Amino acid sequence: MLSTEDNELLTRVGPGTPMGQLLRRYWTPALLASEAPTPGGDPVRVRLLGEDLVAFRDLNGRVGLIQENCPHRGASLFYGRNEAGPDGTCGLRCPYHGWQFDADGRCIDMPSEPPTSSFKNRVTAKAYPTHESGGIVWTYMGPPDSLTPFRDFGSDTLAPEHVQATKMHTTCNWVQAMEGNLDTSHISWLHQWAGAADLPDDGSDKPGYPSNPSSWKFWLHDRAPRLEVEDTWYGFKYVGIRTTPNGNKHVRMSAFCFPYHTVIATVPFGVRHGMFVPIDDYNTWRISFTTRVIDNSRGVGGAPLFSVSPFKLARAEVDGNGIVPREYTAGNEYGIDREEQRTTTFSGIAEFASQDLMATESMGPIYDRTQERLGTTDKAIIRMRRLLLDAAKRVAAGEQAPATGPDHDYFEIRSAEKILEPDEDWRLLGTSDDPLVREMDTHGLRDREPIAGS
Ligand code: FES
Ligand SMILES: [Fe+2]
Repeated sequence: MLSTEDNELLTRVGPGTPMGQLLRRYWTPALLASEAPTPGGDPVRVRLLGEDLVAFRDLNGRVGLIQENCPHRGASLFYGRNEAGPDGTCGLRCPYHGWQFDADGRCIDMPSEPPTSSFKNRVTAKAYPTHESGGIVWTYMGPPDSLTPFRDFGSDTLAPEHVQATKMHTTCNWVQAMEGNLDTSHISWLHQWAGAADLPDDGSDKPGYPSNPSSWKFWLHDRAPRLEVEDTWYGFKYVGIRTTPNGNKHVRMSAFCFPYHTVIATVPFGVRHGMFVPIDDYNTWRISFTTRVIDNSRGVGGAPLFSVSPFKLARAEVDGNGIVPREYTAGNEYGIDREEQRTTTFSGIAEFASQDLMATESMGPIYDRTQERLGTTDKAIIRMRRLLLDAAKRVAAGEQAPATGPDHDYFEIRSAEKILEPDEDWRLLGTSDDPLVREMDTHGLRDREPIAGS
């Protein structure tokens, strides 16, 4: 439960809000690179942290991100012409009177004024710097004197053929959406189906890395996981501990990294980030990207995770631009099938991500957290809220935002899922001291080279 004041502080991200100021201290995903693939191609509308912007890849291949409304009299630059300017320059030309702005927001041409006028030198569009990495165009929207280096989670050196980035729109506040990813207990409920209990025992209910089908069984077998949270330099990592049918200790470990990154438990360990990027206070992009290619076949046996489940996957439908379509929304009650719900699946909703979206969107655009009653399985989301609230207050008081320094190894942020040996500490999983991570280092993980054969 939060006070009304803290709920407002936590969720509001517009310019001038404390949380908005905190978020503006981080490099922020603005759009997928695939949305603006071609130099001189069509501009793209970008609404980010409540600000309306337009992105364009100029003729030199640079992505500009500038205010949507033209500095002259406000026509939308989305309708502009992405073209060459005078003297070898290039940029976006407003369709109303022809003023043209480059990727830095400089007015490079003002053809509606007399040729002798120097007015264009005194007009600029608000522009944010961009950096492309991992299939995402990132931007920095904070004060220039607080700019910190781009945080490379491992994607800067990712070969183009290994880049994977997708995004999906959700109609609720970013914190609410993120709480869904930091809630390990719901995998035993929302995402379950009757047949999981009948999956054959394949012998992986023993210390080590379970098969994918066995994970479903373990999640269903123990539906009241015990949570343990450990603070880290980037935020925290936490586990849900479950007892398996054979009495073993199964852990799902996920990570939270400031300000909206989640790395969700995966066998044997995960490096894919799920980010919850505020479009505004009421809309969020769920962005997923791969930071590295790892050979995750090690220790994993059996069929792929979703192949044994009855669920559809929206991300299977992603087309070339990386935007995951929404077939199921509140408008069609997420396609809920009550007969399915009675007989087959816990939710009655066929598509996996839509099960999450139903839960987090049905709370309303910004849930009134004075009304909630938190239990023991909510430890991780309680910690996430507290860290964000404290960080927003610290930044407002003039301190540097956490996890923005140049000396961190941002590729160290990993998740894991494993059945532990009796004396094994989950805190080692996925770290540089994890024997499996070390073993995979020999394949270039630490060297940030693509792994042969992956
Ligand atoms: S409004 Fe854009 S040039 Fe006039
Ligand atoms: Fe979920």
